[in-house]
Amino acid sequence: MLVLIAGITGHVGHHLARHAIAKGLTVRGLGRSPAKLDPTIKLESFIQTATYYDIPALDAAVAGVDAIIVAYMGTPELQVDGHLLLLRAAERAGVHIFHTSTWTFDFRKTKFLEHESYDPFVAFARIAELTSPIKPIYVMTGVLAEVLFSLEGRADFSPKSGGVFDPVEKCFEYYGTGDEKYQWTTEQDAAKFSIELIMSEEARSGKGGFFSAWSGEHSVKEIAEVYEKVQGKPISLKNMGTVEDLEKKALADRAQGTPAGFWGYIGAFYQLFTINGRWVHCIKRRVAWTRGRIQFVKFFIISYTGTTISSEATKDGPSRSRCAYEASTKQNNSI
Ligand SMILES: NC(=O)c1ccc[n+]([C@@H]2O[C@H](COP(=O)([O-])OP(=O)(O)OC[C@H]3O[C@@H](n4cnc5c(N)ncnc54)[C@H](OP(=O)(O)O)[C@@H]3O)[C@@H](O)[C@H]2O)c1
Repeated sequence: MLVLIAGITGHVGHHLARHAIAKGLTVRGLGRSPAKLDPTIKLESFIQTATYYDIPALDAAVAGVDAIIVAYMGTPELQVDGHLLLLRAAERAGVHIFHTSTWTFDFRKTKFLEHESYDPFVAFARIAELTSPIKPIYVMTGVLAEVLFSLEGRADFSPKSGGVFDPVEKCFEYYGTGDEKYQWTTEQDAAKFSIELIMSEEARSGKGGFFSAWSGEHSVKEIAEVYEKVQGKPISLKNMGTVEDLEKKALADRAQGTPAGFWGYIGAFYQLFTINGRWVHCIKRRVAWTRGRIQFVKFFIISYTGTTISSEATKDGPSRSRCAYEASTKQNNSI
């Protein structure tokens, strides 16, 4: 199976390429900057593009592939223009498996104009539905763990952007009770879900659809408890107010900002839609907590040792994960 990974030089893109190759797939890359790709990743070819609207490069990239996974950065122009141009190239080339750059909360639960960084997902999905014979694949993973902790090079989800974890003070500045759950997934798990998905009979059927898979589901209090046990040092917890206080803050920040400057305040809406039950409906389940807690222990260990996890995705249902460590010596002390 030959798979094209667009945005292969990115965080998720690298994991996708490694896991695809580990699964025996042949990988072609598409991107502007081949030098950013880990040279140990052996590709069939790398198609260099000048921009996301370099049509000859897009046509060359999709020629003869069995599946396309888009792993572009999550900006509005890439989510809409970039995806549509690749979708049209896929139509011309007769490719039926088109996995979008999602790995988000379930954006179907967010109405247009409610969330600036989800509006582009809603817009693309609707245009694809209205105009394309291709049925894209969308993957819902909750927050990426590396973003929840604002690791280097990722989007800022610290309190100054309305997010929840302050990486300098090692503090969760949370609204609500602190017991509300975050669905979260590591970039590695997200990539593994996606590779297993495009190889499945369901994806090959060309019906596309929305798939849910996440590494775990935890509150900030639970995460802090696991972190302290694994790292031997605490994450402090600072309550900032109620869910209603957060809603007022998010709306006030938006009123003071501009749509084009939405990155400055959108974190508050991510936090709000997580803790007000819009995206995550959680019933306390001891079994799920125990299993998921093990997943977070693994995330913290992985962040320090570079081990990997393998998992599987399910369509429109709760996640199931099976984990296996693979030895690695790479050190990463960024949390
Ligand atoms: N749920 C969450 O918490 C969460 C958080 C972050 C991301 N995500 C999702 O994950 C996806 C992938 O994120 P990521 O962090 O892996 O992305 P990333 O590393 O920031 O970017 C991926 C690649 O996009 C390409 N790119 C960036 N700007 C471009 C442009 N103007 N034109 C063409 N290509 C451009 C770059 O490749 P070249 O330089 O080689 O062109 C880059 O390596 C996002 O789209 C988003 O949907 C989810």
